Amino acid sequence: MTAGWRNNLIRLDPYRAGEQPKSADVIKLNANENPYPPAPGVYAAVRGLECEGLRRYPSADGGGLRRALAAYHGLDEGEVFVGNGSDEILALAFRAFFNSGSPVLFPDVTYSFYPVWCRLFGIAYETRGLAEDFSARVDDYKGENGGVVLANPNAPTGVCLPDGGVERLMRRNGGASVVIIDEAYIDFGGVSSVGLVREFENLLVVQTFSKGRALAGMRLGMAFGSPALISVLEAVKNSFNSYPVDSVAEAAGIASIEDDAYFRARAGQVAATRDRVAGQMRGMGFRLTDSRANFLFAAHPDIDAEALKAHLGGRGILVRHFRLPGIERHLRISVGTDAEMDALLEGIREFMECFSAM
Ligand SMILES: Cc1ncc(COP(=O)(O)O)c(C=O)c1O
Repeated sequence: MTAGWRNNLIRLDPYRAGEQPKSADVIKLNANENPYPPAPGVYAAVRGLECEGLRRYPSADGGGLRRALAAYHGLDEGEVFVGNGSDEILALAFRAFFNSGSPVLFPDVTYSFYPVWCRLFGIAYETRGLAEDFSARVDDYKGENGGVVLANPNAPTGVCLPDGGVERLMRRNGGASVVIIDEAYIDFGGVSSVGLVREFENLLVVQTFSKGRALAGMRLGMAFGSPALISVLEAVKNSFNSYPVDSVAEAAGIASIEDDAYFRARAGQVAATRDRVAGQMRGMGFRLTDSRANFLFAAHPDIDAEALKAHLGGRGILVRHFRLPGIERHLRISVGTDAEMDALLEGIREFMECFSAM
C-alpha cells in the first residue's frame, strides 16, 4: 500500500523567525524588539485583570482597543482593524485583497514573509529591484498589478519611501488595486500614511504594537483603511478565527495607547541611539543605509558579515544575517540600550583588530 495521504500534504517553504535563545545572558539584537519595557500603565492593566473574566470570550471585533485606536488617530471604528500581531493582519489582507490573477508587486529586498503568503494563498507576484541606496522607486509599482505591498520603512534596510511617495503611488495606481503600506517600523522617525486612508479607499496601512510599543510578546497589530477594506478584512478574519485578540492583549493595548508620552519618549531614545551608533560605525569604515527604523543595516567592504556575526555570537551578542543575493555582505542589527550598543561596538572593534593582525 502506498502512503497516498502524503501526497495530499501541503509543501511549504515557511518564514524563518530570528533565533529566540533561552538564556537571559545575551544581548539580543536580532529580532528588532524594543530594549525598553512597555508603558507602566500596561503593567497596571494586566495586573488589574480579573482572572475570573477569562472564562468569557473577548469581544469579537477588538471592541475597546479598536475604539481607543480610532480616537487616537481621529478615525471611525469602522476604519480600524486589530489582530494577533501585524503578521496575522498582513496574511488576512493578502487573502482578502489579492484575488485578481495579476501579479502583486513588492521589492526584491523586503520583508521575507510577503512571498511566503503569496505562495501559501496561490497569489502570483513579481518583485522590483531597489536603487543603489536601497530606496524603492515608486514609479516601479505603477504598471498593471494585482496589488502593491511596501514596507515603510523597509525591512531589513530601514530605508523610507521618499516624502510624498505613498501619495504619488496612490495617484498613479488610480484605484486599480489595493495598496498595503506596512508601517511596522514607523515609530522611529518615518512619516505615517494613516492620514491618507480617507482620501484613498484602496489604501491599507498596517502597524504593530511589537516595536515602538514594546509588546512583541503580546501579539497585537492594527490596520487602518476605508470601511470597504476593513469590512472585508473582518469577513476573512471571521472565516478563520473570530477572536484573534484575547482579553489580556486588549487591555494591554488600550493602556499602551493611553500613555502616549512614554511611547514617544522611548521611541525617540531608540532613534537617538541608532543615529549615534550609525555615526560610530561609519567612522569604523562601515557603509550603512539611512535607517529610520529600530535597526541598522550595515556592511563593511573588508569584512565577511557571517564571520562578524559568528564573532559577536561568541560574545553573546546576537545579530541577523540574510544569505540573500545583494545583501549577503550586510548585517541587520537591532538597536538596543546604549550599554548594549557600546558592547556591540566593542565586539566589532575586537573583531577588526584580530582581522587586521592577520
Ligand atoms: C516589515 C515587518 N512587518 C511586519 C512584522 C510583523 O510584526 P508583528 O507580527 O510582531 O506585529 C515585522 C516583524 O518583524 C516586520 O519586520
